[in-house]
Parts: sequence; structure tokens; C-alpha cells
Amino acid sequence: MRKKLAAGNWKMNGTSNAMTEVTDLAARFPESNVDILICPPATALSQLSGILEQSPIATGGQDCHVALSGAHTGDISAEMLKDVGAGYVILGHSERRDSYNEVSETVRAKARTAISAGLTAIVCLGESHVQREANNTLDIIGGQLAGSVPDGATGANLVVAYEPVWAIGTGLVPSLEQIAEVHAFIRTRLIRRFGEVTGIDIRILYGGSVKAANATGIFAVADVDGALVGGASLKADDFAGIINALQQA
Ligand code: PGA
Repeated sequence: MRKKLAAGNWKMNGTSNAMTEVTDLAARFPESNVDILICPPATALSQLSGILEQSPIATGGQDCHVALSGAHTGDISAEMLKDVGAGYVILGHSERRDSYNEVSETVRAKARTAISAGLTAIVCLGESHVQREANNTLDIIGGQLAGSVPDGATGANLVVAYEPVWAIGTGLVPSLEQIAEVHAFIRTRLIRRFGEVTGIDIRILYGGSVKAANATGIFAVADVDGALVGGASLKADDFAGIINALQQA
């Protein structure tokens, strides 16, 4: 059975002041029947990993370089993330695909490196509003999935996150039917590529304006194995509401 995952993506938010939120969250979940993850900015990872040492809450990065080390000013490697306690890394988030022209080929190379460093790669996919309006959603998702996920992926080293670009940070959420359609499509493609056992083992998260108020409905959709949460992961209260909904799903 796939273990569900509530993953928080803090994006470019989180200085020392945010640590009280983490302490608060850890106190609420001394144990958990679902996986919980916070991906803070890389600058906060070490501190966060320290605070969460005795907690079931894991930490992760938001990106890594294709190489494990070398002359890449300003970049951070998968090995460095691992070194400060990270277990996961988000890759191919639409904000990185947009701002840094990250194409699926790059995301795949990064995922390969992250996995080789012992991290679980959370590979993000999502269509734009224009692409959905043009009825191209499944083509886009199929292409990004095939291009971004490396060979050798397993349920232990890979998580897929479906995040419609138009739903991120907008308060807009696809209908449950739309979420169900894309998640079923991703599941079918994973099974076709990796076989029945591995294809069923890989977790598929939904992301884009998930809040405590809409989480229960989203988590009831087949093949939704949890959420990748941006804004609502910054406050312990908000994120705890989502985690509780997942624990009860
Ligand atoms: P949001 O972001 O929850 O603020 O919409 C989700 C994400 O970008 O992962």
C-alpha cells in the first residue's frame, strides 16, 4: 500500500522566525500514519532538520543541480541537501520550469542525480491554463511525465506531483473529476512504463491551492496519494488541518 504524503513547499519563504511554526507542527504530530515533509529554502534546511530530528516530519530541498559538485556558483547539489538531513527534493516545479527554462530533459537529469545521492525526487508536472483550454492537458502531462521521470524510478525514490500551473497560488482548483482524470492517466502511464508492481507503488500528489477546507474532497479522489502544498504549508495551523484530513482519508 502506498503511504500517503503531505508535502509542504515553502518556496522563497522562511527565515529564523519561521522555526516556531515548525516546532509547533512537530509538537502536534509526535507520530503519524502518513508521511509529512517540509521543503524550506536551502538556507533553513540544516536548522529545520535539527529541530525535526526526533520527529516523523522529514525535510527536503526545492531544487538541486544536475552535478553532484563542481564549479557552479550559487547552485546546490543533491549531496549537499542529503548532508544537511534532507530526504527529498522537489524537481521541475512550474516556477522553475518558467523562471529558469527548465525543460523535462533537465528535470530528468536532476532526478537521476538526486536518486543517486539517496534522495527521493518529487517530480512536478502541470498544464497551463491555455493548454487546458485547448484540451491539451493529457498530451502535456504525458510528455512531461515521459521526459522528466528517469529510468529506474521506484516507489521508494520517486514521487510524481500533478500541479496545474493555473491552480498554483491562485485559489483556483480543478474539479474533482479533472483531478481524477489526470491522476488515473498518470497511473496508467507509470504502469505501462515501469510495470504493474512499480507503477502502482509510485505516489502521485495533487498540488495547487490545497487548503484544509478543500483537502478532504481532494484526498477522496482515486490515485491522489497526498498533496504538495505551497501557501498553506507556511503556518502550522493551516498545514496541520491538511495533514489531519490526509490522516483521515
Ligand atoms: P499553492 O502552491 O499551494 O500555494 O497553490 C503549490 C505549489 O506550488 O507547490
